Amino acid sequence: MTEKRILLIVTGGIAAYKALELVRLLKRQGIAVRAVMTQSATEFVTPLSMGVMTEDQVYGDMFDLKEEREIGHIQLSRQADLIVICPATANILAKMAAGIADDLATTILLATDKPVLAVPAMNVRMWQHPATRRNLAQLKADGVTVMDPDEGAMACGEFGPGRLPEPPAVAERICAMLGHGFDATLTAGRASTSAPAALESQPDFADITHRPLFSKRIMVTAGPTYEAIDPVRYIANRSSGRQGFAIAAAAAEMGAEVTLIAGPVHLVTPPGVIRIDVENALEMQAEVEKALPTDVAILVAAVADWRAADVPQQKIKKDGKGIPPLILTENPDILASLAAHKQRPKLLIGFAAETEKIIEHATAKLAKKGCDWIVANDVSGDVMGGDNNAFHVVTRNGVESWPDSPKDVIARKLMEKIADEIA
Ligand code: CTP
Repeated sequence: MTEKRILLIVTGGIAAYKALELVRLLKRQGIAVRAVMTQSATEFVTPLSMGVMTEDQVYGDMFDLKEEREIGHIQLSRQADLIVICPATANILAKMAAGIADDLATTILLATDKPVLAVPAMNVRMWQHPATRRNLAQLKADGVTVMDPDEGAMACGEFGPGRLPEPPAVAERICAMLGHGFDATLTAGRASTSAPAALESQPDFADITHRPLFSKRIMVTAGPTYEAIDPVRYIANRSSGRQGFAIAAAAAEMGAEVTLIAGPVHLVTPPGVIRIDVENALEMQAEVEKALPTDVAILVAAVADWRAADVPQQKIKKDGKGIPPLILTENPDILASLAAHKQRPKLLIGFAAETEKIIEHATAKLAKKGCDWIVANDVSGDVMGGDNNAFHVVTRNGVESWPDSPKDVIARKLMEKIADEIA
């Protein structure tokens, strides 16, 4: 029997935390779950927790270039046997009934040809409101299956229908719709899913509240930038993005809400990390601005210092008139502009790739860029693209030099120092 797959859309209600339990139960039944979270769902449940439970990337932003190119909204629904919205707020029911598609979740729902199960949860008055009644009637007429909410005391203090059914009941309903047997004995106890290695040492990987960076927002930039010369040529550098990705992974493992703004690299998104792909320095700067406010920003990206002053619409041809001049203009310094920003992160960290006089150059860069720390590394060997790195962490209080270590190990060490600093 081929594995059944559901696409779980989580919307923003107080019951969203129950979606984590639902994922656990479904996985125990042998059902694969991929999750999409609306923006407001992330106010109730972190993408990190959801990513740990689904052991997959969590999808959220319609305009994430990588997702749109590689796993667009059509493909997300194509890969699923059933789409489940749990919890489904009054808001998403209204949008579905009206055919509105203004984010990834609603776009998937408008574009899909797969069966859809909505599991509403809302305040009793919202549930009973004529608008919601109308929307539900419309959705049922459109072929959406609606699982009626439970009755009882609600988180908002009222009593009546509107409570999300208990996760085992939702899991059973999903199994029935998939034609997949439901083993009730599998609903008790802890998940058998394996957590990422770094989380296994935690007393309970599903509970992230005890982790050192829980609820902290951290932005990381990584990789190179590509600066177009014409539609087919570009200026680039040798950054692999691996150190930045390792830092983002370590931050997420320690409980932070991580936004990773990545230049063009071929790397897997670490679990629980929100990734935004960009191509050039100007795009990176715009996404950095959008990610504010954050508690910490770690700018690991090797941003190109210059870009072509003019990028023609057509490919530059050999026209026999000699070599065309390449006129460059300076890119904005993202780190320096963040240092001067009115929403400057409390801890701002830059990286310095140096081939000589490492500490001296890093110390000068700390002052010039106005950041709090510079992590300097010697790139005279094969660091760019290699497995290991050695860091010199330059702060106003001095320099700490850490020995050559694998990039994930040194990333965790850096995140521990950051956790100590902002605790
Ligand atoms: N950086 C940035 N925006 C740029 C260039 C660099 O945000 N346009 C950031 C990098 O992400 C890194 C730090 O600044 O955190 C240092 O980058 P580096 O290229 O080493 O510094 P430069 O100022 O370009 O100095 P130089 O090339 O002379 O070494």
